[in-house]
Amino acid sequence: MKKTSRFFRLALLASATALMVPLASAQATGKLKVGLMLPYTGTYAALGTAIENGFKLYIDEHGGKLGGREVEYIKVDDESNPAKATDNVNKLIKRDNVDVVVGTVHSGVVMAMAKVANDTNTLLIVPNAGANAVTGPLCSNNIYRSSFSNWQPAYAMGEAAAKKGYKKAVTITWKYGAGEESVGGFKESFEKGGGKVVKELSLPFPNVEFQALLTEIAAMKPDVVYTFFAGGGAVKFVKDYAAAGLKGKIPLIGAGFLTDGTLDAQGADASGLQTALHYADSLNTKRDNDFRLAYAKAFKLQPDVYAVQGYDAGQILGAGLAAVKGDVSKKAEFAAAVERAKFDSPRGMFTLSKAHNPVQDFYLRQVSGVENKSIGLASKALADPARGCKL
Ligand code: PHB
Repeated sequence: MKKTSRFFRLALLASATALMVPLASAQATGKLKVGLMLPYTGTYAALGTAIENGFKLYIDEHGGKLGGREVEYIKVDDESNPAKATDNVNKLIKRDNVDVVVGTVHSGVVMAMAKVANDTNTLLIVPNAGANAVTGPLCSNNIYRSSFSNWQPAYAMGEAAAKKGYKKAVTITWKYGAGEESVGGFKESFEKGGGKVVKELSLPFPNVEFQALLTEIAAMKPDVVYTFFAGGGAVKFVKDYAAAGLKGKIPLIGAGFLTDGTLDAQGADASGLQTALHYADSLNTKRDNDFRLAYAKAFKLQPDVYAVQGYDAGQILGAGLAAVKGDVSKKAEFAAAVERAKFDSPRGMFTLSKAHNPVQDFYLRQVSGVENKSIGLASKALADPARGCKL
């Protein structure tokens, strides 16, 4: 009697397993709903558009499909406004039932998105926002980043600045997560290399009234000024720095966002500026040349770092979805595939760390004409320390 029931239980188990095997490897069907949550207005508007373009270029190169499913887009303008971020991401997840969210640019906005993604077990691919916590305490199998942590380019620039022999630095940035973490990364390596940050200046995001702060810098006469600005604000800062008579007197350096996607508008005021970033304009590799040509053809625009990050968000999603045949619920298998992958990016090869942040080279760049030319490597295969990540 006992034997028989054990036999039946085993038989049941075997048939259940047999049933599960084909189900587990089945191709998911129906459209893949991608929620694009990006800034389409405000100082970061051009960054949002470049990310969307890059992402769509990758999908189009793959026949409009990922993981065997046709891709459908649902867009939200997040306005780079953290106060609206939770509502905005909930609209995509709860109202529109998206399978994956791709976004965003602003560190304050992505913090809310990452919390909701973890609470609702939703896949989130971050194509820019560098908030350290996203691949730190908030890291999970729901979250991947195709860009950088705020610590990374700043740390690379701090090392290069110390090597140049600068001793006394003043920093200036917007007072929010990205600016503060960028200054933190710079300070860490610059001071380790023997320099000292003597003053940290800031103004609220996205203000561009720089005059009073530039007057303070002129009076302090540091060896170098380190900055984090991006988008429309970066254009204005570089122009105001020159107009204040500081260009050529006190070297201005930064995370490379200061001069990326901005050079047409900054003109001669940007010439000679040195920055560190995971992309540069004249890498002249076949991979990058092909990407730049395809992007220029499709959008009648030159690509920048944001376009590359959007494209690589597509690559990460593509690698994960191929492994799970389009089934976004298989988080562990998705993660395993992405962690194994080597991404052939226009920026150069990169991998994702266990915390799902790119491990990548940082170029030291110098502005020449309308290009950020690589003048060497500031840091090779630099990994974010992922402080607080428990994966
Ligand atoms: C950010 O808020 O994390 C941020 C925004 C713009 C950039 C880089 C980082 O170019």
